[in-house]
Amino acid sequence: MSQERSDTLVLFGATGDLAHKKIFPALYAMVAKGTLNEPVIGVAFDPWDLAKLQARARDGIVNALGSIDDKIFARLASLLRYVSGDYRAPATFEKLKTALGSAERPLHYLAVPPAMFEVVVQGLEQSGAAQGARLMVEKPFGHDLQSARWLNRVLHLVFDEKSIFRIDHYLGKEAIQNLLCFRFANSFLEPIWNRNYVESVQITMAEDFGVEGRGRFYDEVGCIRDVIENHLLNILLLLAMEPPVGRSADDLIDEKVQVLRAIRTLTRDDVVRGQFDGYLNEPGVAPNSPVETFAAVRFFVDTWRWQDVPFFIRAGKSLPVHATEVIVQLKRPPLDVFDPIKPGDCNHVRFRIDPQVAISIGARRKAPGDDMVGEQVELTALDDSKGDMPPYERLIGDAMNGNGQLFTRQDASELAWRIVGPVLGDTTPPPVYAPKTWGPAEAMAGFGPPNGWINPAK
Ligand code: BG6
Repeated sequence: MSQERSDTLVLFGATGDLAHKKIFPALYAMVAKGTLNEPVIGVAFDPWDLAKLQARARDGIVNALGSIDDKIFARLASLLRYVSGDYRAPATFEKLKTALGSAERPLHYLAVPPAMFEVVVQGLEQSGAAQGARLMVEKPFGHDLQSARWLNRVLHLVFDEKSIFRIDHYLGKEAIQNLLCFRFANSFLEPIWNRNYVESVQITMAEDFGVEGRGRFYDEVGCIRDVIENHLLNILLLLAMEPPVGRSADDLIDEKVQVLRAIRTLTRDDVVRGQFDGYLNEPGVAPNSPVETFAAVRFFVDTWRWQDVPFFIRAGKSLPVHATEVIVQLKRPPLDVFDPIKPGDCNHVRFRIDPQVAISIGARRKAPGDDMVGEQVELTALDDSKGDMPPYERLIGDAMNGNGQLFTRQDASELAWRIVGPVLGDTTPPPVYAPKTWGPAEAMAGFGPPNGWINPAK
């Protein structure tokens, strides 16, 4: 597949939640910027007509953005088409083929439950709609190593790897781009970015809400599958990888894969799980469900650069704040020349991923006054987020252009499942934590970075 731009976007799951909340607002933003002029064919089971899909798209855009420009929306509405039908029925794909008209390079975006991937891909092939096409698939990509391998085989029967775009929307975030740029566009970092200076790394993704009506989905995945195996492990890779040798998508992904290969497979001792009090009452959650809504996990990267440096990831629902943050903690100075430095007060680099985008350097300086006493300060570069491109806008645009840099390649998808495999599906009831606390306190005692967890502020 060449880098030629796709000439039609086909959106499977067009009447679904993801399309409503994220995809239509992204398409609207693209139309506003003039980066989307191609037809968009929505496909779904619901027996709607085009007017109903347009109204639904409008509603999603207003909800997401607070307002809408009628002229811009009219342009988006004029690009929309709708094909309704059962994904198992060949007639649906015949209708799609007709709607595609003379399109030669469609991008088929599967915003549907993974159980439907195989049937849609087969329908595309049998109708000829897969010819010359690209395929974009939503998470979750598999449930474990075996199912991810199987899914990869299914997709590869019809699409070659270069035409497949597996989404991890975290990779489309401005803050993640920023992290990558900060690491490889600065020379001051390189000498200290290794086991000689870095004592530990911690990544926290805290959400101050529960499962928000997604109980049925969440109870099948749990925290490790939902955000650790994908979003947060991806952040770890960007922190730990070597500089890419070039600018192509594979150059970057090759380096991430090298880190994945070097990460030790987890054991149960590397994980503390928790479940917030009240989870079992959520609609869709099984009685006595042992699924975790919180997990703290310790990783080791067996490379020259990172040997023995612990990388901790902690994530959970119903925690005290909504924030995602990375702290790269540096070792303490060899001697206290001035006042003794408390363990947590050593130099660090903080990456704020959500809700704001910021990078801070934590350093010591002299506190004003007579005494030679130090204080901890942070030098922060804060992004006002005004020009930020939302992840779905970036990722749909990249996939339309055939740029796979921010997507998960087959080998990466399977290696990530290899790493977390042994800690999935634990049926022991996890310790319960009170909502708005930092997880199960007793189970977490003694588990964490050497100088403790640093809780992100609001
Ligand atoms: C999704 C998870 O992939 O990411 C959700 O399924 C989680 O449980 C969400 O809340 C977080 O993404 P964002 O972009 O809202 O921080």
